[in-house]
Amino acid sequence: MPQKQWLNRTCRLAVVLLLILAPLGAWAQVIPSAQVLQRVVQEAYDRFKDVKEGATADYIPELAKVPAELFGVAIVTARGDIFTAGDVDYAFTIQSVSKPFTAALVMQQEGNADVILQKIGVEPTGLPFNSILATQILKPVSVNPLVNSGALASVSLIKAKNAEERFAKIMSFFQQLAGEKLSVIEDVYKSESATNQRNRAHAYILFVNDRIYADPMEVVDVYTRQCSIGVTAKQLAIMGATLANSGLNPVTHVHVLDARYVPKVLAIMMMAGFYNESGLWAYTAGLPAKTGVGGGIVAVVPQKMAIVGFSPRVNQAGNSVRAMKAIEYITDELGVNLFGSGR
Ligand code: DON
Repeated sequence: MPQKQWLNRTCRLAVVLLLILAPLGAWAQVIPSAQVLQRVVQEAYDRFKDVKEGATADYIPELAKVPAELFGVAIVTARGDIFTAGDVDYAFTIQSVSKPFTAALVMQQEGNADVILQKIGVEPTGLPFNSILATQILKPVSVNPLVNSGALASVSLIKAKNAEERFAKIMSFFQQLAGEKLSVIEDVYKSESATNQRNRAHAYILFVNDRIYADPMEVVDVYTRQCSIGVTAKQLAIMGATLANSGLNPVTHVHVLDARYVPKVLAIMMMAGFYNESGLWAYTAGLPAKTGVGGGIVAVVPQKMAIVGFSPRVNQAGNSVRAMKAIEYITDELGVNLFGSGR
């Protein structure tokens, strides 16, 4: 065989081999082994289980009754493998962790992510989640779907004849994301409904500024129900893993969210998921994430996994102390900070 022909063939063979092996290598690099994932989840649980900082939220009276010692850590990979430690089957209220998912539903309903940009905004406020000041001064567009006023606006954008239909659409979407039936924790819903005057104020400020798109009090009610949906750490991790897996639920294999909306949702989570601690969170963990005053936090590593921590004691900003520590630890151990592992 002439030398040139031989060289050509060898080159072609090398390219074919590379094409076959490269994705395998990339895959192996993408998701750490089961042993590593189970180890980091267990280590995060063991390390932080005795942390006592923070307190259960009590501005919603029923939340103060949730046992403060609960602590669960879960990882669900973009392949649907599940790793857990601690109280991962206890259903807690999803609270503000619900907000990015409803924003995603709005994008999907409209067939366009710009609706969020034009009708709500995507800038972080730098202020607490329930800041009336932010709602008043940051108009017309500078709220985002993750603070209360923007979350109310998201709920108002869901097309529905009445409150029941509006809530049913949200619930059905959340169930598809979690791949399981979910239910409202009625005691928390009632408790928050009786004490949510501040959210009613947000809704009316939006109303007088033409920034809420349905009846304000109906919206507050549906938002309160949405926040009272019960999820376990494991279910929340499946919801997050659906985002990590470009909108395809990796456990049920149902396509829940169009892939083109996932980067938009994650961008909003990166900038505002921790409210006035979003900068600190980006600095320490470097992952898009969302917190809730019920004690849950979901962080998303695109194409790889969701990491969830649940513990009811929250800090001044409403973010769960042990959940933050657990997710930061895992992020660091796995080297999955989006801005680089620093190693
Ligand atoms: O609207 C509220 O105040 C609650 N339903 C949700 C607040 C919340 O989760 C803040 N996040 N950490």
